[in-house]
Amino acid sequence: MTVTIVGAQLGDEGKGGIVDLFGDPADVVVRYQGGDNAGHTVVHDGEEYKLSLVPSGAIRGKIGVLGNGCVVNPRTLFDEIDDLREQGIDPDVRVAERAHVILPYHRVLDGIEEEAKSDDDLEAGTTGRGIGPTYEDKVGRRGVRVGDLLDPDVLRDRLEYVVPHHRAIVEDVYGAEVGEEFDLAAIYEEFVSIGERLAAEDMTVNAGEFLDAKRRNGDQIMLEGAQGTSLDIDHGTYPYVTSSNPTAGGACVGTGLGPTVVGQGEVIGVVKAYLSRVGTGPLPTELQDDAEEEALAEQIREEGGEYGTVTGRPRRVGWLDLPMLRHATRANGFTGLAVNHLDVLATLPELKVGHAYDLDGEELQTMPPTTERWAQCEAKLRSFETWDPVDWNAVADEGYEALPEAAKAYLSYLSDELDTPIYAVGVGPGRDQSIVRVRPFDD
Ligand code: GDP
Ligand code: IMO
Ligand code: MG
Repeated sequence: MTVTIVGAQLGDEGKGGIVDLFGDPADVVVRYQGGDNAGHTVVHDGEEYKLSLVPSGAIRGKIGVLGNGCVVNPRTLFDEIDDLREQGIDPDVRVAERAHVILPYHRVLDGIEEEAKSDDDLEAGTTGRGIGPTYEDKVGRRGVRVGDLLDPDVLRDRLEYVVPHHRAIVEDVYGAEVGEEFDLAAIYEEFVSIGERLAAEDMTVNAGEFLDAKRRNGDQIMLEGAQGTSLDIDHGTYPYVTSSNPTAGGACVGTGLGPTVVGQGEVIGVVKAYLSRVGTGPLPTELQDDAEEEALAEQIREEGGEYGTVTGRPRRVGWLDLPMLRHATRANGFTGLAVNHLDVLATLPELKVGHAYDLDGEELQTMPPTTERWAQCEAKLRSFETWDPVDWNAVADEGYEALPEAAKAYLSYLSDELDTPIYAVGVGPGRDQSIVRVRPFDD
């Protein structure tokens, strides 16, 4: 069967930790979209691993696959694999031949476009990893795919079209100078040798067929989403989004497993018990209106370590946003929830959630489709009883019933509102600091 792990909010919900928590029975862990814009944390044997491309399960010896829906920067991939090898972990990573390659010029284009958009406040605050431009090339039918790196003649043909195209855009549209990142001969040379390493290490696969064979063999497959539902190019807060589909549908398109396969499995929504966002865009429950709110935000940021894994940027924080989660529950068809960071809330003097929105006097239970109207929404807040910090390791040992009553009331509210059971609760960053109620793989 498959278990799909999806961010329910704006990324950094703790997906890496949940892949680790539920992933023991999995034989294969697959990323289905995004690239090295992701930063997934796994704590294993007291050691913290921050992974951008290598699927989280590879830390524990699972086969890691980067599906066709991913955009792969081979430099990052090899650096990450080499670093892990130095740490004594030899990850088995396969890359879909249909996945698109992030080339050096994509990062430059990402920066140029963000800069140009900033005059109109349209920049998304990207991670600068070239994600958007690479997906643009994919959809524009001028991209370079991983399989192309294995055939130098094909690679040359592709580059001979696309490099002059981008040089012209940089020079003629943006009036900027092109640097070495646009040097066709240098790119060709480097990426031919990257293709040689991929071939030598036998890393490339026809992902759909590879995964289907595993599945028919009875292997368990975990599908690891990156980013989150409100960063989805279709279902997120466009244009302040990423350029792929983190939602569960992306798990089909981005792997070559059919919707009936993914749909027969479980889809777990990972929820941070409050809200965080790196990057721009509106945020109705953001804590920023006055000094008191800013102090609360600062406290959450410090307690929760809310600084970007990839860029180190301080994350914006706010109260849990129920309309956003109702939207995510529908768009993904969650079968279960994993709620993280309950321990962080315990340190706060007050606790609220955005239960609904007020938009021009009308009460909304879910997100309006345009970001402009979403920005006009005022969160209708509900207060909850707080709970004090306790010995979270002991609570994790004892189980759900050992949680403070007020914390259980908060979780019940969430589960009832989303009409979805809670499978796991995170009370700290370690795998042992989790309470598991349901294990999604029926092993
Ligand atoms: P991801 O991108 O969704 O995988 O999440 P990140 O790794 O970017 O960010 C989550 C951060 O929160 C990591 O530093 C985790 O170790 C940490 N974390 C995850 N779950 C919990 C939790 O329940 N409590 C606390 N305090 N930290 C957690
Ligand atoms: P994980 O997988 C949080 C945000 C960026 C920016 C927008 C577009 O760790 O949850 P991009 O570089 O993708 O073009 O940036 O998306 N973003 C993330 N925010 N977590 C992530 O990944 C993110 N990946 C991208 O900050 O607002
Ligand atoms: Mg992250």
